[in-house]
Amino acid sequence: MNSPATPSGLLGDTSTRDYSRKLKLFNAFAAPELRQAIASLALKPGMRVLDAGCGTGEALAWLAAEVAPGGAVIGMDLATSHVRAARSVTPEDVALVLQANMLEAPLVPASFDLAWSVNVINHLRSPTAGIDALGLLLRPGGRIALGQSSLLPDMYFAWDSRLERLVNEAVRQYYRDRYQLDERDLTDVRAIVGLLRKAGLRDVSARTFMIERVAPLRAEDEAYLAETIFRDTWGSRLEPYLAKTDYEELMRLCDPLHPDFALRRPDFHFLQSFTLVVGTIAVEP
Ligand SMILES: C[S@@+](CC[C@H](N)C(=O)[O-])C[C@H]1O[C@@H](n2cnc3c(N)ncnc32)[C@H](O)[C@@H]1O
Repeated sequence: MNSPATPSGLLGDTSTRDYSRKLKLFNAFAAPELRQAIASLALKPGMRVLDAGCGTGEALAWLAAEVAPGGAVIGMDLATSHVRAARSVTPEDVALVLQANMLEAPLVPASFDLAWSVNVINHLRSPTAGIDALGLLLRPGGRIALGQSSLLPDMYFAWDSRLERLVNEAVRQYYRDRYQLDERDLTDVRAIVGLLRKAGLRDVSARTFMIERVAPLRAEDEAYLAETIFRDTWGSRLEPYLAKTDYEELMRLCDPLHPDFALRRPDFHFLQSFTLVVGTIAVEP
């Protein structure tokens, strides 16, 4: 699995790719809503849960708490660094973490009650293949729960919808150019309900949780927004995609040392959607 020949996914994932810091910051930021989403599944003690594409593993302990006593949680991820990070925060009596490609998971078929997978199927070249692979690991009556951030556009600049729209479009264009994607390549992620129905799952339901923050922010919120979004997702890479004055304004808003820094404005109000789509594996008569 460490071989450099491991094929890259739609968004460039390989066994050697490492964005652990970004994942840790996201999970610290969104922990309250992610835990609410997990609670909405009404898991029971003794259940067996797989976190497919577990990243740095923060959800493993949250899932384990819901299935204790007697339950079991397995985390699985393609990337060596993510697996290492997940193992470092997860004692083996809480969850086991495997390095594997979820499309060919070395796990016993029909052995899980739930496959939890957050912000992963949009990274696969074929989300359908991902859903089918997870389906094989579930017992009849087991559930797939796919979480996806930002099916609705995020609100960053409550006071300036124009700049926000231009920045969102610039980010999309940057990613299309970076991964040679057409907008149509990204539509599957919006259609998770349809994908689960097409894969034959029953009782498909969707629920969206809003991640909402206003100034003053918690340290976890400021760290995620300033570092992951303002600096890494936006930053100088957006310069070619924005008019000069818009780019300069964005840089002022994103600079923690500038008096206009967005996160310290009293009117800062952030919204991001997190959608959980759940389907059940049919029980054959
Ligand atoms: C955006 S991250 C989400 C991580 C985690 N679920 C979270 O919410 O923080 C996507 C993760 O999927 C993993 N991944 C991508 N393709 C995979 C595959 N085919 N099999 C297993 N993991 C994969 C990546 O290595 C990465 O850790």
